Amino acid sequence: MCGIVGCILNNDKAAPVLLECVKKLEYRGYDSVGIATPDSEIHIKKDKGMIDEVDAKVGLSDLPGDMGIAHVRWATHGIPTKTNSHPHTDCSGDIAVVHNGIIENYKELKDSLQSEGHIFKSDTDTEVIPHLIEKYMTTGLDLEESVKEALNLIHGSYAIAAISRNEPGKIVGARKESPLIVGKGENEYFLASDAPAILNHTNNIIYLEDGEMVILNKSGVTVKNMLGEIIEKEVHVITWTPDMAEKSGYDHFMIKEIHEQPEAVKNTLMEAEDIEEIVSQIGDVDKICFVACGTSYHASLIGKYLFESLIGLPTDVILASEFKYSAKAMDEKTLVIIISQSGETADTLKALRMVKEQSKTLAIVNVLGSTATREAEYVLYTRAGPEIGVAATKTYVSQLTCIYMLVAYISKRMDLIDELQNVPQQMTSLLENEGHIKKIAQKYKYASDFFFIGRGFSYPTALEGALKLKEITYIHGEGYAAGELKHGPLALIDDGVPVVAVVPPGETHDKTLSNVEEVRARGGHVIGVGSQEDGDLKSEVEDLIGLDPEINEIISPITYIVPLQLLSYYISVEKGIDPDKPKNLAKCVTVE
Ligand code: M6R
Repeated sequence: MCGIVGCILNNDKAAPVLLECVKKLEYRGYDSVGIATPDSEIHIKKDKGMIDEVDAKVGLSDLPGDMGIAHVRWATHGIPTKTNSHPHTDCSGDIAVVHNGIIENYKELKDSLQSEGHIFKSDTDTEVIPHLIEKYMTTGLDLEESVKEALNLIHGSYAIAAISRNEPGKIVGARKESPLIVGKGENEYFLASDAPAILNHTNNIIYLEDGEMVILNKSGVTVKNMLGEIIEKEVHVITWTPDMAEKSGYDHFMIKEIHEQPEAVKNTLMEAEDIEEIVSQIGDVDKICFVACGTSYHASLIGKYLFESLIGLPTDVILASEFKYSAKAMDEKTLVIIISQSGETADTLKALRMVKEQSKTLAIVNVLGSTATREAEYVLYTRAGPEIGVAATKTYVSQLTCIYMLVAYISKRMDLIDELQNVPQQMTSLLENEGHIKKIAQKYKYASDFFFIGRGFSYPTALEGALKLKEITYIHGEGYAAGELKHGPLALIDDGVPVVAVVPPGETHDKTLSNVEEVRARGGHVIGVGSQEDGDLKSEVEDLIGLDPEINEIISPITYIVPLQLLSYYISVEKGIDPDKPKNLAKCVTVE
């Protein structure tokens, strides 16, 4: 959802560093990119397109100066064009701004600025910010004061960085409802939407809160509130390393992250102490409500099956964007569990804010120090490391691991913890045989529709498999509860339509096999995902993806999603799509 970076270096050229940092944020948007550096004038290079394309065309690092700001865009207001690319400037070109967020009242601000004579160049909401700063600077205020005045007029969300030709050694940043962190290196200072962007330079991070401004100059970093009062901020040393945000020899981040899943599960299992502690603190609850979006929503659905079938605790799962209709149904005996990889998803944060005064809240989050971790009452981290591919993979299995552990400690089902210990090895065995899945991907890459079916614990797996397919292959994919097929969707099964059936050994096995037969009777091609020793399944399907027979139905979602991720990944690659940067999507959705 747009990424911003700013840096002030110790006499080194800033543009190559800004380029390197902003590349790490490309997962947040890839409609356009731009860099601005100030000296006797503001120098800007920007254009629409992926960073490498634009760099090859305009030479983004070829800009003077040891400080500057940069941006990658996920378009909201105004189509992706060079003119709509950030940084945006005022009338004189003396002020440049990069912005992540949405200015809701930009039309009225633009009308008023235009009536005062300001000339706009773009269709973006962002452009009102440099013009407002210009308006105040021409009254004699400095950059910091002018940014503050401008932000006082703005409704909406923002993380911004602003520079001015008249104050060349300074960057002013601010945030409200969009993430912004500050990095303190050795005599060099950074601003960024996310920590992985600057990990090559520093791991000393300050997390800004809503309503805070930061002033970066050669002598350091000052954080203030909107009244201009200085705020002492804690510097967090984060443990993520720069190589975690590199491809390390893999073709794409997505396949690297799929292969990191055994490690992600192992690391998340080490959270046991924190989970036990939280379980002891939470006390009595009579209802659970999961709130999440996308893949995190699918992880939550598994949570519902676990809490209801193993503990008998009533559990709702609500899409964060629909939560406001249910907020009143939460009380002090409800535990609201927010699940989010980024901890910055606008819909999810809004839901958290709606309910945090009236219910107990627990956030299960991957990104250290993100907004959700600072606003929820209790926090559990998934230890997946930075996830760069837009499609969530290793964070999904880590979320599931966390949920299983939570349920195990609440219900004292230590057998579940024992089973979780086997998951990394079971995943590794599957990953060693991924060539077979690649072949299946080649066979079905021309399909225009796919169906994914499963019962019980395998139903959310089917939904998540379908989401992965849609996201990175652009093939239409639908996930269904297998028993629901006959209530409508079966009408869509025709000769050769691929149907992925998730059929682990267990209670639902035989019934799902009956559904597989129904599909076959209509000409569907079934790709079965089940035990490698399941002769019945093998005889019913076109292709079998076999997993360790020891994986039972209850624990299966963590490992059974892996072949579905691989299937989508290899179809995407076969179709020449970049799975890390699917069209129209961004990793972190900071708009509602
Ligand atoms: O950061 P979050 O987990 O809150 O993000 C939620 C969704 O935007 C996210 O899961 C999205 O659906 C992924 N691209 C799925 O692969």
